[in-house]
Amino acid sequence: MTSIDTSATTTTLVHRASEHDAWWRNAVIYQVYPRSFADASGDGIGDLPGVTSKLDHLARLGVDAVWLSPFYRSPQADAGYDVADYRDVDPLFGTLADFDEMIERAHRLGMRIIVDLVPNHTSDEHVWFQAALAADKGSPERARYIFRDGKGPEGAEPPNNWTSIFGGPAWTRIPDGQWYLHLFDTKQPDLDWTNPEVHEEMISVLRFWLDKGVDGFRVDVAHGMVKAEGLPDWAGHVSMVDGSDDGSTGAGNQGPMFDQDGVHEIYREWREVLDEYDGERILVAEAWVEPLSRLARYVRPDEMHQAFNFSYLTTLWDAGALRRVVTASLEANDAVGAPSTWVLSNHDVVRHPSRLGLSVAGSKPQGIGVGDEQPDEELGLRRARAATLLTLALPGSAYLYQGEELGLPEHTTLDDSLREDPAWARSGHTERGRDGCRVPLPWDADAPGLGFSPTGATWLPQPASWARYALSAQRGDPSSTYGMYRAALRIRRDFKLGSGSLAWVDGLPGCFAETTVAFVNGDVLVVANLGDEPIPVDPVHGLELLQASQPLVHGAPLPPDTTAWFRLPR
Ligand code: NOJ
Repeated sequence: MTSIDTSATTTTLVHRASEHDAWWRNAVIYQVYPRSFADASGDGIGDLPGVTSKLDHLARLGVDAVWLSPFYRSPQADAGYDVADYRDVDPLFGTLADFDEMIERAHRLGMRIIVDLVPNHTSDEHVWFQAALAADKGSPERARYIFRDGKGPEGAEPPNNWTSIFGGPAWTRIPDGQWYLHLFDTKQPDLDWTNPEVHEEMISVLRFWLDKGVDGFRVDVAHGMVKAEGLPDWAGHVSMVDGSDDGSTGAGNQGPMFDQDGVHEIYREWREVLDEYDGERILVAEAWVEPLSRLARYVRPDEMHQAFNFSYLTTLWDAGALRRVVTASLEANDAVGAPSTWVLSNHDVVRHPSRLGLSVAGSKPQGIGVGDEQPDEELGLRRARAATLLTLALPGSAYLYQGEELGLPEHTTLDDSLREDPAWARSGHTERGRDGCRVPLPWDADAPGLGFSPTGATWLPQPASWARYALSAQRGDPSSTYGMYRAALRIRRDFKLGSGSLAWVDGLPGCFAETTVAFVNGDVLVVANLGDEPIPVDPVHGLELLQASQPLVHGAPLPPDTTAWFRLPR
Protein backbone atom coordinates (compact mmCIF):
# COMPACT_ATOMS: atom_id res chain seq x y z
CA MET A 1 0.00 0.00 0.00
CA THR A 2 1.24 3.48 -0.85
CA SER A 3 1.52 5.65 2.23
CA ILE A 4 0.83 9.33 2.60
CA ASP A 5 3.90 11.42 3.04
CA THR A 6 3.35 13.24 6.30
CA SER A 7 4.57 12.41 9.74
CA ALA A 8 1.33 13.40 11.51
CA THR A 9 -0.71 10.99 9.44
CA THR A 10 -1.29 7.40 10.49
CA THR A 11 -2.98 4.58 8.64
CA THR A 12 -4.69 1.55 10.16
CA LEU A 13 -5.33 -1.41 7.92
CA VAL A 14 -8.64 -3.10 8.66
CA HIS A 15 -9.19 -5.13 5.49
CA ARG A 16 -6.80 -6.70 3.00
CA ALA A 17 -7.39 -6.90 -0.75
CA SER A 18 -9.34 -9.98 -1.75
CA GLU A 19 -7.51 -12.83 -3.40
CA HIS A 20 -10.73 -14.31 -4.74
CA ASP A 21 -12.09 -13.04 -7.98
CA ALA A 22 -15.62 -14.49 -7.93
CA TRP A 23 -17.93 -11.91 -9.52
CA TRP A 24 -20.20 -11.50 -6.51
CA ARG A 25 -17.40 -10.49 -4.16
CA ASN A 26 -17.13 -7.05 -5.71
CA ALA A 27 -20.20 -6.67 -7.95
CA VAL A 28 -22.32 -3.56 -8.26
CA ILE A 29 -25.90 -4.81 -8.21
CA TYR A 30 -28.78 -2.60 -9.34
CA GLN A 31 -32.23 -3.18 -7.87
CA VAL A 32 -35.15 -2.97 -10.28
CA TYR A 33 -38.58 -2.60 -8.69
CA PRO A 34 -40.51 -3.83 -11.72
CA ARG A 35 -43.79 -1.95 -11.22
CA SER A 36 -41.95 1.39 -11.14
CA PHE A 37 -38.99 0.97 -13.49
CA ALA A 38 -40.39 1.23 -17.02
CA ASP A 39 -43.78 0.45 -18.53
CA ALA A 40 -43.95 -0.96 -22.05
CA SER A 41 -47.65 -1.93 -22.12
CA GLY A 42 -49.02 1.55 -21.35
CA ASP A 43 -51.12 0.61 -18.32
CA GLY A 44 -49.05 2.77 -15.97
CA ILE A 45 -47.44 -0.21 -14.23
CA GLY A 46 -43.90 -1.19 -15.11
CA ASP A 47 -43.31 -4.60 -16.70
CA LEU A 48 -40.63 -7.01 -17.90
CA PRO A 49 -40.59 -5.76 -21.51
CA GLY A 50 -40.09 -2.30 -19.97
CA VAL A 51 -37.08 -3.64 -18.06
CA THR A 52 -35.66 -5.21 -21.22
CA SER A 53 -36.04 -1.91 -23.07
CA LYS A 54 -33.85 -0.16 -20.48
CA LEU A 55 -31.10 -2.75 -20.04
CA ASP A 56 -28.84 -0.73 -22.32
CA HIS A 57 -29.13 2.14 -19.83
CA LEU A 58 -27.97 -0.14 -17.03
CA ALA A 59 -25.10 -1.52 -19.09
CA ARG A 60 -24.00 2.06 -19.93
CA LEU A 61 -24.23 2.97 -16.27
CA GLY A 62 -21.77 0.17 -15.62
CA VAL A 63 -23.51 -2.21 -13.22
CA ASP A 64 -22.61 -5.89 -13.05
CA ALA A 65 -25.96 -7.38 -12.15
CA VAL A 66 -29.64 -6.57 -11.82
CA TRP A 67 -31.83 -7.77 -8.94
CA LEU A 68 -35.55 -7.72 -9.67
CA SER A 69 -38.15 -7.48 -6.91
CA PRO A 70 -40.98 -10.04 -7.38
CA PHE A 71 -42.81 -10.29 -10.71
CA TYR A 72 -44.55 -13.60 -9.95
CA ARG A 73 -48.29 -14.25 -10.04
CA SER A 74 -49.74 -12.39 -7.12
CA PRO A 75 -52.83 -10.51 -6.00
CA GLN A 76 -50.39 -7.66 -5.20
CA ALA A 77 -51.52 -7.23 -1.60
CA ASP A 78 -47.89 -6.39 -0.78
CA ALA A 79 -46.70 -5.38 -4.24
CA GLY A 80 -45.81 -8.94 -5.24
CA TYR A 81 -44.24 -10.06 -1.94
CA ASP A 82 -47.41 -12.15 -1.68
CA VAL A 83 -46.77 -14.88 -4.22
CA ALA A 84 -49.65 -17.00 -5.55
CA ASP A 85 -47.58 -18.97 -8.09
CA TYR A 86 -43.80 -19.10 -7.77
CA ARG A 87 -43.31 -20.48 -11.28
CA ASP A 88 -45.17 -17.91 -13.35
CA VAL A 89 -45.00 -14.23 -14.24
CA ASP A 90 -47.98 -12.10 -13.21
CA PRO A 91 -49.87 -10.86 -16.30
CA LEU A 92 -49.31 -7.32 -14.95
CA PHE A 93 -45.61 -7.76 -15.67
CA GLY A 94 -45.73 -9.94 -18.80
CA THR A 95 -45.10 -13.61 -19.48
CA LEU A 96 -42.45 -16.25 -18.95
CA ALA A 97 -41.38 -15.61 -22.55
CA ASP A 98 -40.81 -11.95 -21.63
CA PHE A 99 -38.65 -13.13 -18.75
CA ASP A 100 -36.60 -15.33 -21.11
CA GLU A 101 -36.10 -12.43 -23.47
CA MET A 102 -35.03 -10.14 -20.61
CA ILE A 103 -32.46 -12.54 -19.17
CA GLU A 104 -31.06 -13.33 -22.58
CA ARG A 105 -30.58 -9.64 -23.37
CA ALA A 106 -29.04 -8.96 -19.95
CA HIS A 107 -26.59 -11.82 -20.37
CA ARG A 108 -25.70 -10.61 -23.86
CA LEU A 109 -24.91 -7.22 -22.35
CA GLY A 110 -22.69 -8.91 -19.77
CA MET A 111 -25.02 -8.38 -16.79
CA ARG A 112 -26.27 -11.03 -14.41
CA ILE A 113 -29.85 -11.41 -13.21
CA ILE A 114 -30.87 -12.03 -9.61
CA VAL A 115 -34.50 -12.75 -8.76
CA ASP A 116 -36.38 -12.39 -5.51
CA LEU A 117 -37.44 -15.48 -3.59
CA VAL A 118 -40.18 -15.12 -0.99
CA PRO A 119 -40.00 -18.29 1.15
CA ASN A 120 -41.32 -17.08 4.52
CA HIS A 121 -44.92 -16.76 3.36
CA THR A 122 -47.13 -17.27 0.33
CA SER A 123 -50.18 -15.35 -0.79
CA ASP A 124 -53.47 -16.47 0.75
CA GLU A 125 -54.46 -17.08 -2.89
CA HIS A 126 -51.72 -19.70 -3.36
CA VAL A 127 -53.22 -23.17 -4.07
CA TRP A 128 -51.64 -24.51 -0.90
CA PHE A 129 -53.38 -21.97 1.31
CA GLN A 130 -56.67 -22.40 -0.47
CA ALA A 131 -56.36 -26.16 0.08
CA ALA A 132 -55.51 -25.55 3.75
CA LEU A 133 -58.67 -23.48 4.22
CA ALA A 134 -60.77 -26.19 2.57
CA ALA A 135 -59.18 -29.00 4.63
CA ASP A 136 -59.78 -29.98 8.25
CA LYS A 137 -57.86 -29.04 11.35
CA GLY A 138 -54.79 -31.23 11.71
CA SER A 139 -54.74 -32.10 7.99
CA PRO A 140 -51.52 -32.30 5.91
CA GLU A 141 -52.80 -29.26 3.98
CA ARG A 142 -52.93 -27.14 7.16
CA ALA A 143 -49.53 -28.48 8.23
CA ARG A 144 -47.81 -26.44 5.49
CA TYR A 145 -48.73 -23.25 7.35
CA ILE A 146 -48.79 -22.25 11.01
CA PHE A 147 -52.38 -22.93 12.08
CA ARG A 148 -53.14 -23.06 15.81
CA ASP A 149 -56.16 -23.10 18.09
CA GLY A 150 -56.76 -19.86 19.93
CA LYS A 151 -56.57 -19.18 23.65
CA GLY A 152 -59.28 -18.23 26.12
CA PRO A 153 -62.95 -19.17 26.07
CA GLU A 154 -63.80 -20.86 22.74
CA GLY A 155 -60.31 -20.09 21.52
CA ALA A 156 -61.39 -16.56 20.71
CA GLU A 157 -58.00 -15.02 21.50
CA PRO A 158 -54.97 -15.41 19.23
CA PRO A 159 -52.52 -18.22 20.08
CA ASN A 160 -49.88 -15.70 21.22
CA ASN A 161 -49.34 -11.95 21.41
CA TRP A 162 -47.22 -11.46 18.31
CA THR A 163 -47.91 -8.41 16.18
CA SER A 164 -47.49 -8.09 12.42
CA ILE A 165 -44.58 -6.07 11.09
CA PHE A 166 -47.11 -3.97 9.21
CA GLY A 167 -49.12 -3.39 12.42
CA GLY A 168 -52.07 -5.17 14.04
CA PRO A 169 -52.12 -8.78 15.25
CA ALA A 170 -49.97 -11.42 13.52
CA TRP A 171 -52.88 -13.91 13.61
CA THR A 172 -56.11 -14.12 11.63
CA ARG A 173 -59.00 -16.40 12.54
CA ILE A 174 -60.75 -18.54 9.94
CA PRO A 175 -64.40 -19.67 10.02
CA ASP A 176 -63.76 -23.03 11.76
CA GLY A 177 -62.15 -21.17 14.66
CA GLN A 178 -58.44 -21.84 14.02
CA TRP A 179 -55.93 -19.04 13.61
CA TYR A 180 -53.05 -18.72 11.14
CA LEU A 181 -49.83 -16.78 11.59
CA HIS A 182 -48.75 -13.97 9.29
CA LEU A 183 -45.74 -11.90 10.25
CA PHE A 184 -46.79 -9.47 7.52
CA ASP A 185 -50.22 -8.82 5.99
CA THR A 186 -53.20 -11.09 6.64
CA LYS A 187 -52.89 -12.04 2.95
CA GLN A 188 -49.34 -13.36 3.57
CA PRO A 189 -49.67 -16.57 5.66
CA ASP A 190 -46.34 -17.87 7.02
CA LEU A 191 -45.19 -21.28 5.84
CA ASP A 192 -44.20 -23.90 8.40
CA TRP A 193 -40.53 -24.62 7.77
CA THR A 194 -40.55 -27.59 10.14
CA ASN A 195 -42.50 -29.39 7.38
CA PRO A 196 -40.24 -31.28 4.89
CA GLU A 197 -42.79 -30.68 2.13
CA VAL A 198 -42.11 -26.93 2.38
CA HIS A 199 -38.37 -27.58 1.94
CA GLU A 200 -38.96 -29.78 -1.10
CA GLU A 201 -41.29 -27.27 -2.73
CA MET A 202 -38.92 -24.33 -2.30
CA ILE A 203 -35.98 -26.33 -3.64
CA SER A 204 -38.05 -27.18 -6.67
CA VAL A 205 -38.78 -23.44 -7.11
CA LEU A 206 -35.06 -22.69 -6.86
CA ARG A 207 -34.35 -25.27 -9.57
CA PHE A 208 -37.09 -23.88 -11.81
CA TRP A 209 -35.40 -20.46 -11.93
CA LEU A 210 -31.85 -21.83 -11.93
CA ASP A 211 -32.77 -23.88 -14.98
CA LYS A 212 -34.04 -20.66 -16.57
CA GLY A 213 -30.56 -19.23 -16.12
CA VAL A 214 -30.88 -16.86 -13.16
CA ASP A 215 -27.61 -15.98 -11.48
CA GLY A 216 -28.95 -15.80 -7.96
CA PHE A 217 -31.70 -15.15 -5.47
CA ARG A 218 -32.33 -12.33 -3.03
CA VAL A 219 -34.01 -14.14 -0.17
CA ASP A 220 -36.87 -12.23 1.43
CA VAL A 221 -37.08 -12.21 5.26
CA ALA A 222 -34.17 -14.63 5.35
CA HIS A 223 -34.07 -14.36 9.15
CA GLY A 224 -37.74 -15.15 9.70
CA MET A 225 -38.51 -18.60 8.35
CA VAL A 226 -37.91 -20.53 11.56
CA LYS A 227 -39.80 -19.55 14.70
CA ALA A 228 -38.83 -20.44 18.27
CA GLU A 229 -40.24 -23.74 19.46
CA GLY A 230 -43.67 -23.32 21.08
CA LEU A 231 -44.18 -19.82 19.60
CA PRO A 232 -43.64 -18.07 22.96
CA ASP A 233 -45.22 -14.71 23.71
CA TRP A 234 -43.03 -11.71 23.10
CA ALA A 235 -43.64 -8.24 24.37
CA GLY A 236 -41.22 -6.41 22.06
CA HIS A 237 -42.20 -4.37 19.07
CA VAL A 238 -41.48 -5.69 15.57
CA SER A 239 -41.00 -3.36 12.65
CA MET A 240 -39.40 -3.36 9.22
CA VAL A 241 -36.57 -1.06 10.13
CA ASP A 242 -36.31 -0.70 13.84
CA GLY A 243 -36.67 -2.80 16.92
CA SER A 244 -33.05 -3.11 17.91
CA ASP A 245 -32.31 -2.56 21.56
CA ASP A 246 -28.72 -3.73 21.44
CA GLY A 247 -27.37 -0.20 21.35
CA SER A 248 -26.34 -0.38 17.70
CA THR A 249 -27.93 1.27 14.69
CA GLY A 250 -31.42 -0.13 14.95
CA ALA A 251 -31.32 -2.44 11.96
CA GLY A 252 -32.16 -5.61 13.81
CA ASN A 253 -35.50 -7.37 14.14
CA GLN A 254 -35.75 -9.06 17.50
CA GLY A 255 -37.91 -11.73 19.06
CA PRO A 256 -38.74 -15.44 18.82
CA MET A 257 -39.80 -15.06 15.18
CA PHE A 258 -36.38 -13.89 13.95
CA ASP A 259 -32.82 -15.11 13.60
CA GLN A 260 -33.39 -18.58 15.06
CA ASP A 261 -30.52 -21.02 14.60
CA GLY A 262 -32.66 -23.35 12.48
CA VAL A 263 -32.67 -20.95 9.51
CA HIS A 264 -29.06 -21.79 8.81
CA GLU A 265 -29.90 -25.39 7.99
CA ILE A 266 -32.16 -24.16 5.20
CA TYR A 267 -29.33 -22.17 3.64
CA ARG A 268 -26.90 -25.06 3.84
CA GLU A 269 -29.45 -27.15 2.00
CA TRP A 270 -29.93 -24.47 -0.68
CA ARG A 271 -26.21 -23.84 -1.07
CA GLU A 272 -25.72 -27.46 -2.06
CA VAL A 273 -28.38 -27.05 -4.75
CA LEU A 274 -26.83 -23.84 -6.11
CA ASP A 275 -23.37 -25.39 -6.15
CA GLU A 276 -24.62 -28.08 -8.55
CA TYR A 277 -25.02 -25.31 -11.14
CA ASP A 278 -22.19 -23.64 -13.03
CA GLY A 279 -21.41 -19.93 -13.04
CA GLU A 280 -21.29 -19.02 -9.34
CA ARG A 281 -25.02 -18.55 -8.69
CA ILE A 282 -25.63 -16.68 -5.45
CA LEU A 283 -27.91 -16.33 -2.43
CA VAL A 284 -28.32 -12.89 -0.84
CA ALA A 285 -29.91 -12.57 2.59
CA GLU A 286 -32.45 -9.89 3.34
CA ALA A 287 -31.96 -10.24 7.06
CA TRP A 288 -32.54 -7.34 9.45
CA VAL A 289 -30.16 -8.85 11.99
CA GLU A 290 -27.76 -7.19 14.41
CA PRO A 291 -25.07 -7.13 15.60
CA LEU A 292 -23.04 -7.58 12.41
CA SER A 293 -21.26 -10.61 13.87
CA ARG A 294 -24.68 -12.29 14.09
CA LEU A 295 -25.52 -11.28 10.50
CA ALA A 296 -22.22 -12.77 9.34
CA ARG A 297 -23.49 -16.22 10.34
CA TYR A 298 -25.71 -16.10 7.22
CA VAL A 299 -22.66 -15.86 4.98
CA ARG A 300 -20.49 -18.63 6.39
CA PRO A 301 -18.76 -20.59 3.64
CA ASP A 302 -21.49 -23.22 3.28
CA GLU A 303 -24.45 -20.84 3.50
CA MET A 304 -25.32 -17.69 1.60
CA HIS A 305 -22.92 -15.53 -0.39
CA GLN A 306 -23.95 -12.06 0.72
CA ALA A 307 -26.21 -10.37 3.26
CA PHE A 308 -27.54 -6.83 2.93
CA ASN A 309 -25.78 -4.48 5.31
CA PHE A 310 -28.72 -2.68 6.88
CA SER A 311 -26.52 -1.52 9.77
CA TYR A 312 -24.69 0.60 7.19
CA LEU A 313 -27.93 1.83 5.60
CA THR A 314 -29.28 2.97 8.98
CA THR A 315 -26.14 4.74 10.18
CA LEU A 316 -26.52 8.47 10.73
CA TRP A 317 -24.51 11.02 8.74
CA ASP A 318 -21.76 11.05 11.32
CA ALA A 319 -18.08 10.41 10.66
CA GLY A 320 -17.40 8.36 13.79
CA ALA A 321 -20.51 6.23 13.39
CA LEU A 322 -19.67 5.56 9.73
CA ARG A 323 -16.09 4.57 10.53
CA ARG A 324 -17.32 2.22 13.26
CA VAL A 325 -19.93 0.51 11.11
CA VAL A 326 -17.52 0.06 8.18
CA THR A 327 -14.88 -1.45 10.46
CA ALA A 328 -17.41 -3.71 12.17
CA SER A 329 -18.78 -4.86 8.79
CA LEU A 330 -15.39 -5.67 7.33
CA GLU A 331 -14.22 -7.45 10.47
CA ALA A 332 -17.38 -9.52 10.84
CA ASN A 333 -17.43 -10.60 7.19
CA ASP A 334 -13.69 -11.17 7.00
CA ALA A 335 -14.01 -13.53 9.94
CA VAL A 336 -16.16 -15.85 7.79
CA GLY A 337 -14.46 -15.13 4.45
CA ALA A 338 -17.45 -13.27 2.97
CA PRO A 339 -17.54 -9.93 1.16
CA SER A 340 -19.18 -6.99 2.88
CA THR A 341 -22.09 -5.35 1.11
CA TRP A 342 -23.00 -1.67 1.09
CA VAL A 343 -26.46 -0.30 0.51
CA LEU A 344 -28.05 3.12 1.00
CA SER A 345 -31.54 2.74 -0.48
CA ASN A 346 -34.11 0.14 -1.44
CA HIS A 347 -37.87 -0.25 -1.92
CA ASP A 348 -38.52 -0.46 1.84
CA VAL A 349 -36.86 2.72 3.10
CA VAL A 350 -37.03 6.45 2.45
CA ARG A 351 -34.62 7.28 -0.39
CA HIS A 352 -31.23 8.35 0.94
CA PRO A 353 -31.21 11.91 -0.50
CA SER A 354 -34.34 12.55 1.56
CA ARG A 355 -33.13 10.79 4.72
CA LEU A 356 -29.95 12.86 4.56
CA GLY A 357 -31.93 16.09 4.19
CA LEU A 358 -33.73 15.62 7.52
CA SER A 359 -32.76 17.51 10.67
CA VAL A 360 -31.34 14.26 12.04
CA ALA A 361 -29.36 13.44 8.90
CA GLY A 362 -29.67 9.82 7.92
CA SER A 363 -32.50 8.93 10.30
CA LYS A 364 -35.09 6.52 8.92
CA PRO A 365 -38.72 7.50 9.27
CA GLN A 366 -41.38 4.94 8.30
CA GLY A 367 -42.31 7.00 5.26
CA ILE A 368 -42.82 10.76 4.92
CA GLY A 369 -46.04 12.58 4.04
CA VAL A 370 -47.71 15.97 4.18
CA GLY A 371 -47.55 17.20 7.78
CA ASP A 372 -44.26 15.40 8.49
CA GLU A 373 -40.90 17.14 8.56
CA GLN A 374 -39.99 17.82 4.93
CA PRO A 375 -36.36 17.11 3.95
CA ASP A 376 -34.09 19.85 2.62
CA GLU A 377 -33.90 18.63 -0.98
CA GLU A 378 -30.71 20.47 -1.96
CA LEU A 379 -28.76 19.60 1.18
CA GLY A 380 -30.02 16.01 1.04
CA LEU A 381 -28.84 15.57 -2.54
CA ARG A 382 -25.46 17.07 -1.75
CA ARG A 383 -24.99 14.66 1.14
CA ALA A 384 -26.38 11.76 -0.86
CA ARG A 385 -23.79 12.30 -3.56
CA ALA A 386 -21.08 12.39 -0.90
CA ALA A 387 -22.49 9.25 0.75
CA THR A 388 -22.58 7.48 -2.60
CA LEU A 389 -18.95 8.22 -3.41
CA LEU A 390 -17.98 7.04 0.06
CA THR A 391 -19.96 3.85 -0.45
CA LEU A 392 -18.73 3.03 -3.94
CA ALA A 393 -15.10 3.22 -2.78
CA LEU A 394 -15.57 0.59 -0.07
CA PRO A 395 -14.27 -2.91 -0.75
CA GLY A 396 -17.04 -5.46 -1.30
CA SER A 397 -20.27 -5.49 -3.24
CA ALA A 398 -22.49 -2.41 -3.62
CA TYR A 399 -26.25 -2.30 -4.14
CA LEU A 400 -27.97 0.57 -5.96
CA TYR A 401 -31.71 1.19 -5.93
CA GLN A 402 -33.34 2.26 -9.17
CA GLY A 403 -33.37 6.01 -9.61
CA GLU A 404 -30.60 6.74 -7.14
CA GLU A 405 -28.29 7.24 -10.14
CA LEU A 406 -30.55 10.22 -10.91
CA GLY A 407 -30.41 11.52 -7.33
CA LEU A 408 -34.16 11.03 -6.91
CA PRO A 409 -35.65 12.21 -3.65
CA GLU A 410 -38.55 10.45 -1.95
CA HIS A 411 -42.05 11.59 -2.91
CA THR A 412 -42.77 13.24 0.44
CA THR A 413 -46.09 14.93 -0.37
CA LEU A 414 -48.00 12.00 -1.86
CA ASP A 415 -51.72 12.23 -1.21
CA ASP A 416 -52.49 9.76 1.58
CA SER A 417 -55.56 8.52 -0.31
CA LEU A 418 -53.24 7.09 -3.00
CA ARG A 419 -51.10 4.99 -0.67
CA GLU A 420 -51.01 1.27 -1.50
CA ASP A 421 -48.51 -0.02 1.06
CA PRO A 422 -50.44 -2.28 3.48
CA ALA A 423 -48.38 -0.80 6.33
CA TRP A 424 -50.35 2.49 6.03
CA ALA A 425 -53.74 0.87 6.75
CA ARG A 426 -52.50 -1.82 9.15
CA SER A 427 -50.63 0.69 11.30
CA GLY A 428 -53.87 2.61 11.77
CA HIS A 429 -52.47 5.38 9.54
CA THR A 430 -49.51 6.03 11.82
CA GLU A 431 -46.81 4.77 9.41
CA ARG A 432 -46.92 6.42 5.99
CA GLY A 433 -45.12 3.42 4.56
CA ARG A 434 -43.09 2.83 1.47
CA ASP A 435 -45.02 4.24 -1.51
CA GLY A 436 -42.86 7.37 -1.55
CA CYS A 437 -39.77 5.43 -2.63
CA ARG A 438 -41.69 3.36 -5.20
CA VAL A 439 -42.85 6.12 -7.55
CA PRO A 440 -42.41 5.43 -11.32
CA LEU A 441 -39.04 6.60 -12.66
CA PRO A 442 -38.59 9.76 -14.75
CA TRP A 443 -36.88 8.93 -18.03
CA ASP A 444 -37.79 11.89 -20.24
CA ALA A 445 -38.35 15.41 -18.84
CA ASP A 446 -40.56 16.44 -21.77
CA ALA A 447 -42.82 13.40 -22.11
CA PRO A 448 -46.13 12.84 -20.32
CA GLY A 449 -45.55 10.83 -17.13
CA LEU A 450 -41.86 11.76 -17.59
CA GLY A 451 -41.53 8.99 -20.16
CA PHE A 452 -42.31 6.15 -17.75
CA SER A 453 -45.01 4.76 -20.01
CA PRO A 454 -45.95 5.29 -23.68
CA THR A 455 -49.38 6.56 -22.59
CA GLY A 456 -48.09 8.85 -19.84
CA ALA A 457 -49.89 6.74 -17.22
CA THR A 458 -48.15 6.18 -13.87
CA TRP A 459 -49.60 4.04 -11.05
CA LEU A 460 -48.50 6.69 -8.54
CA PRO A 461 -48.10 10.37 -9.47
CA GLN A 462 -44.55 11.72 -9.73
CA PRO A 463 -43.57 14.83 -7.75
CA ALA A 464 -43.35 18.02 -9.79
CA SER A 465 -39.63 18.39 -9.04
CA TRP A 466 -38.83 15.12 -10.77
CA ALA A 467 -38.67 16.62 -14.30
CA ARG A 468 -35.25 18.05 -13.49
CA TYR A 469 -34.07 14.62 -12.32
CA ALA A 470 -35.15 12.82 -15.52
CA LEU A 471 -32.43 10.86 -17.31
CA SER A 472 -32.91 13.06 -20.40
CA ALA A 473 -32.04 16.14 -18.30
CA GLN A 474 -28.81 14.62 -16.99
CA ARG A 475 -27.40 12.52 -19.84
CA GLY A 476 -24.32 14.10 -21.36
CA ASP A 477 -23.67 16.31 -18.29
CA PRO A 478 -20.68 14.94 -16.38
CA SER A 479 -21.51 17.13 -13.36
CA SER A 480 -24.99 15.61 -13.03
CA THR A 481 -25.69 12.89 -10.47
CA TYR A 482 -26.02 10.40 -13.33
CA GLY A 483 -22.64 11.53 -14.68
CA MET A 484 -21.12 11.12 -11.22
CA TYR A 485 -22.45 7.55 -10.84
CA ARG A 486 -21.17 6.54 -14.27
CA ALA A 487 -17.74 7.96 -13.66
CA ALA A 488 -17.57 6.45 -10.18
CA LEU A 489 -18.46 2.99 -11.45
CA ARG A 490 -15.81 3.25 -14.16
CA ILE A 491 -13.11 4.34 -11.72
CA ARG A 492 -14.21 1.71 -9.19
CA ARG A 493 -13.66 -0.91 -11.88
CA ASP A 494 -10.39 0.52 -13.20
CA PHE A 495 -8.87 0.77 -9.73
CA LYS A 496 -10.36 -2.55 -8.57
CA LEU A 497 -11.87 -0.85 -5.51
CA GLY A 498 -14.44 -3.64 -5.05
CA SER A 499 -11.76 -6.22 -4.41
CA GLY A 500 -9.42 -3.77 -2.71
CA SER A 501 -8.28 -3.04 0.83
CA LEU A 502 -9.22 -0.51 3.46
CA ALA A 503 -6.89 1.42 5.73
CA TRP A 504 -8.26 4.31 7.79
CA VAL A 505 -6.23 7.48 7.52
CA ASP A 506 -6.08 9.64 10.63
CA GLY A 507 -4.45 12.99 11.20
CA LEU A 508 -4.58 14.31 7.64
CA PRO A 509 -3.28 17.89 7.98
CA GLY A 510 -6.10 20.36 8.51
CA CYS A 511 -8.81 17.69 8.80
CA PHE A 512 -11.04 17.41 11.83
CA ALA A 513 -11.17 13.87 13.16
CA GLU A 514 -14.79 14.19 14.29
CA THR A 515 -16.09 15.14 10.86
CA THR A 516 -13.71 13.51 8.37
CA VAL A 517 -13.83 9.99 7.00
CA ALA A 518 -10.60 9.20 5.18
CA PHE A 519 -9.29 5.89 3.95
CA VAL A 520 -6.99 4.37 1.41
CA ASN A 521 -8.16 1.57 -0.86
CA GLY A 522 -5.23 0.42 -3.01
CA ASP A 523 -3.99 3.43 -4.96
CA VAL A 524 -6.93 5.63 -4.05
CA LEU A 525 -7.34 8.00 -1.10
CA VAL A 526 -10.96 8.74 -0.24
CA VAL A 527 -11.78 11.79 1.87
CA ALA A 528 -15.30 12.67 2.98
CA ASN A 529 -15.95 15.96 4.75
CA LEU A 530 -19.08 15.66 6.90
CA GLY A 531 -18.41 18.89 8.78
CA ASP A 532 -19.48 22.50 8.30
CA GLU A 533 -16.04 23.86 7.36
CA PRO A 534 -13.99 23.27 4.20
CA ILE A 535 -10.95 21.10 4.82
CA PRO A 536 -7.64 21.43 3.00
CA VAL A 537 -6.43 18.38 1.14
CA ASP A 538 -2.93 19.47 0.56
CA PRO A 539 -1.75 19.26 -3.06
CA VAL A 540 1.90 18.99 -2.00
CA HIS A 541 1.43 15.28 -1.53
CA GLY A 542 1.05 14.93 -5.26
CA LEU A 543 -2.52 13.75 -5.00
CA GLU A 544 -4.35 13.57 -8.32
CA LEU A 545 -8.06 14.33 -8.11
CA LEU A 546 -10.01 11.47 -9.71
CA GLN A 547 -13.56 12.36 -8.83
CA ALA A 548 -15.55 14.47 -6.38
CA SER A 549 -19.18 14.63 -5.36
CA GLN A 550 -19.20 18.43 -5.93
CA PRO A 551 -17.32 20.45 -8.54
CA LEU A 552 -13.80 20.75 -7.14
CA VAL A 553 -10.71 22.40 -8.48
CA HIS A 554 -7.47 20.56 -7.96
CA GLY A 555 -5.79 21.73 -4.78
CA ALA A 556 -8.83 23.64 -3.50
CA PRO A 557 -10.19 22.77 -0.04
CA LEU A 558 -12.86 20.07 0.20
CA PRO A 559 -16.21 21.78 0.92
CA PRO A 560 -18.69 20.53 3.54
CA ASP A 561 -20.72 17.40 2.71
CA THR A 562 -18.39 16.42 -0.10
CA THR A 563 -16.39 13.27 -0.86
CA ALA A 564 -13.39 13.15 -3.17
CA TRP A 565 -11.29 10.33 -4.59
CA PHE A 566 -7.57 11.01 -5.17
CA ARG A 567 -4.96 8.89 -6.79
CA LEU A 568 -1.96 8.53 -4.50
CA PRO A 569 1.47 9.41 -5.89
CA ARG A 570 3.27 6.35 -7.19
C1 NOJ B 1 -39.21 -7.59 2.77
C2 NOJ B 1 -39.53 -6.93 1.46
O1 NOJ B 1 -38.42 -6.22 1.02
C3 NOJ B 1 -40.75 -6.07 1.71
O2 NOJ B 1 -41.01 -5.23 0.63
C4 NOJ B 1 -41.91 -6.98 2.01
O3 NOJ B 1 -43.03 -6.19 2.35
C5 NOJ B 1 -41.60 -7.91 3.17
N1 NOJ B 1 -40.29 -8.47 3.12
C6 NOJ B 1 -42.58 -9.05 3.21
O4 NOJ B 1 -42.36 -9.94 2.16
